Amino acid sequence: MKIRGRTAVILFGIVLLIVGFSSYGAFSETGNMEKEAAANGADAFNFETRTVMLNSGHEMPIYGLGTYSLHDDVCRNSVTAALNRGVRLIDTAHAYGNEKEIGEAIRNSGVPREEIFVITKLYPNQFSNPEAAIEEALQNLDIGYIDMLLLHHPGTGDVEAYHAMEKAVEEGTVRSIGLSNWYVEELEEFLPQVTIPPALVQNEIHPYYQENDVIPYIQEKGIVVQGWYPLGGRGHTAELLGDPVISEIASAHGKSSAQVILRWNLQKGVVVIPGSSNPDHIQENTELFDFELTDDEMERINGLDRNEKHDWY
Ligand SMILES: NC(=O)c1ccc[n+]([C@@H]2O[C@H](COP(=O)([O-])OP(=O)(O)OC[C@H]3O[C@@H](n4cnc5c(N)ncnc54)[C@H](OP(=O)(O)O)[C@@H]3O)[C@@H](O)[C@H]2O)c1
Repeated sequence: MKIRGRTAVILFGIVLLIVGFSSYGAFSETGNMEKEAAANGADAFNFETRTVMLNSGHEMPIYGLGTYSLHDDVCRNSVTAALNRGVRLIDTAHAYGNEKEIGEAIRNSGVPREEIFVITKLYPNQFSNPEAAIEEALQNLDIGYIDMLLLHHPGTGDVEAYHAMEKAVEEGTVRSIGLSNWYVEELEEFLPQVTIPPALVQNEIHPYYQENDVIPYIQEKGIVVQGWYPLGGRGHTAELLGDPVISEIASAHGKSSAQVILRWNLQKGVVVIPGSSNPDHIQENTELFDFELTDDEMERINGLDRNEKHDWY
């Protein structure tokens, strides 16, 4: 009895060990899944090529030029300055009214079309006739195809407009599609209604409005996140660039506040599209790959979040 009791204890111990190991296995699997999910965020960014592979199978640069409020020669010159400085991602929208200037600057740049990645967007007032809106964007840009087409905001008819974008992907006039200003609730409702998952979600993201719950939610779905107003947006840049925490980190690295904010985004797996009409700023905004923020510095910037939106959508 005594021996059997001891055997039972030993057997029980072995069972415990086996259970322990198998649950360790399960834990490892979960760990891998988490790693896979994280691989859609900063881990997915290739800091050598400065690109990210989208779920559409196309590669997109992780930094670019935003063109909101740039028009005519100011817009052409900004795009030209960016392309001359190696920027290969340009963000525009029907609503910005500058697709024509952007197309012209690209065609005149001497940079091969296939090296440039252009994002444009359909505005809600175009959702009732999305085929015509896509055709208009193609004609305005006049660069053969659109690399990425987004719905600019949620609105009446957005699902149908997205279906038209899916058709444009099948036809080859648009390569990748996505959404802008879609948050968790909107995505929960929208995603089950579409066939091609969005490759990109572009939302307001800056140190004073960080979306720390939204970003991982999107990235875990294999969707790349891009931030608009990375420098706070016009009218807010002075406060953000002058923030004491950001300024202190910037001087520790011998970089500008703008570069620190853009780098903070990249290290969070967020693609940046700062807007600028100043060639010196455009140049500065490309110099993001010769320094790295420490975990502590990332945390200090994360601590600046105050849920302060700088625009209504
Ligand atoms: N999907 C959407 O709903 C949505 C909404 C808003 C914007 N966007 C996109 O996001 C892009 C970025 O937003 P944004 O351009 O409005 O705002 P932003 O990038 O946050 O800030 C632009 C401002 O920052 C200044 N700036 C740029 N680089 C700088 C630097 N290195 N140092 C100091 N100042 C610098 C610019 O002035 P200078 O011209 O003097 O350089 C400009 O006044 C837009 O251009 C647009 O493509 C999308």
